[in-house]
Amino acid sequence: MAPGRQPLVGHMPVLARDVVGFFESLRDVGDVVEIRFGRRPVHVITDAELVHRAMGAGPDDVVQGRLYDKLARVAGDGVACTDGPGHLDQRRALLPAFRPARTEQFAGVVREEALALSRSWRPGQPVDLLRDLYRLTTRTTARALLGGDLDDADTNWLADNIPFLFGIFALQTLSPSDLLEHLPTATNRRYADVRRRLRSIVDGVVSRNHGDGDDIVSTLRRAHRGRDVGADDRRLADEVATILVTAIEPAATVIAWTFYHLARDPAVEARAHADPAYLGRVITEVLRLRHPIYFVMRRTLRPVRLGPYELPAGADVLWSNAAIHRDAAAFPDPHVFDPDRWTSAGPPPRHFLPFGGGAHKCLGHRFARSEIEVVVATITARWRLRLDPDEEIPLGVLHPDRMPMSVVARDGVPS
Ligand code: HEM
Repeated sequence: MAPGRQPLVGHMPVLARDVVGFFESLRDVGDVVEIRFGRRPVHVITDAELVHRAMGAGPDDVVQGRLYDKLARVAGDGVACTDGPGHLDQRRALLPAFRPARTEQFAGVVREEALALSRSWRPGQPVDLLRDLYRLTTRTTARALLGGDLDDADTNWLADNIPFLFGIFALQTLSPSDLLEHLPTATNRRYADVRRRLRSIVDGVVSRNHGDGDDIVSTLRRAHRGRDVGADDRRLADEVATILVTAIEPAATVIAWTFYHLARDPAVEARAHADPAYLGRVITEVLRLRHPIYFVMRRTLRPVRLGPYELPAGADVLWSNAAIHRDAAAFPDPHVFDPDRWTSAGPPPRHFLPFGGGAHKCLGHRFARSEIEVVVATITARWRLRLDPDEEIPLGVLHPDRMPMSVVARDGVPS
């Protein structure tokens, strides 16, 4: 059992102080460490090799866990929340929308949106970069994956509220008691409103779609044509909700962190501007050190052996990709932002899990990497983003509320 447990609330107080820092500290306790969410035991895997084994376990042994129970209240039976043969069918049906040729098409949409954002800025203007980027990734997702079928009001509403949802899922998962979700607090009321409106937006997207485009809903309608399984509108709406919830937040956050690290270190910024390969390493290092997913969870269906550990049936299992990324055994000086660590053959890839692995590996990983690269390259061609020198965001924060910057035109480039 990990130190820091308190009666009734379990490890909630230490988790609330610094989620990733706490998971990092468990590495010294063991490869699999029991903690408590309230009274509920949760088994945290701190060893990369065992994480791979858990990710690769079959659906008779391990299924999506508590985090996905929370996500399912918004995303229903979408691809992130299901398991086994049904889940494989869902992934197979979605794959045509994510094939490499579509990624190129998507990059064109991203470039247009990044140019539009870049052209909307004026030299010296203060911007809340995160807010601008949430809008950008919402627009790219809506245009490339939903066939452009969202008006500005719904697009902006999603951009302003999906990040809230992303936070809520983590909060509800870590909570000492599910009963707290039913209290009439401002957060719970906002959650109920957001859930309702999001579902009404995705229902609209599905009902207006006739299956003749390249978007997710058309792709699924085509995949299910002639079969009478899984094609009803509710299932389609679940997939659309899943894409919205998974696509918008992490991509925007990683782009914002990239500009943060460029702004904090002029030498890094100058090299990145001159050398696209180095910029690629900057982005990889951001995906490592400022990885936007605090943790993921699974649940065992029967006793599962992980190395010397035997997890009982029904156990909650958790690992933190962000904490695995900070293991000194794989990444010397793990808390230092150092793009050059990716110059050589690099650390063991088993410790680098930006998009997860196994049956639930990120479906949008090619889209995400391309989106990050295109937005950063398009904006840095015109602007240098400046950060207040006192603005240092601690490593425990993976999701800042805002990122105030000011934009400075590059010499010779018309604004
Ligand atoms: C930098 C951005 C992103 C990061 C770091 C990221 C990371 C991840 C990770 C770690 C998982 C696996 C979670 C687990 O093991 O339980 C995942 C799943 C998923 N991601 Fe991403 N993601 C990103 C962007 C995107 C985008 C842009 C899309 C869609 C266009 C997307 C769609 C999905 C979906 C649908 C799943 C669930 C797949 C399944 O369960 O079969 N993600 N993502």
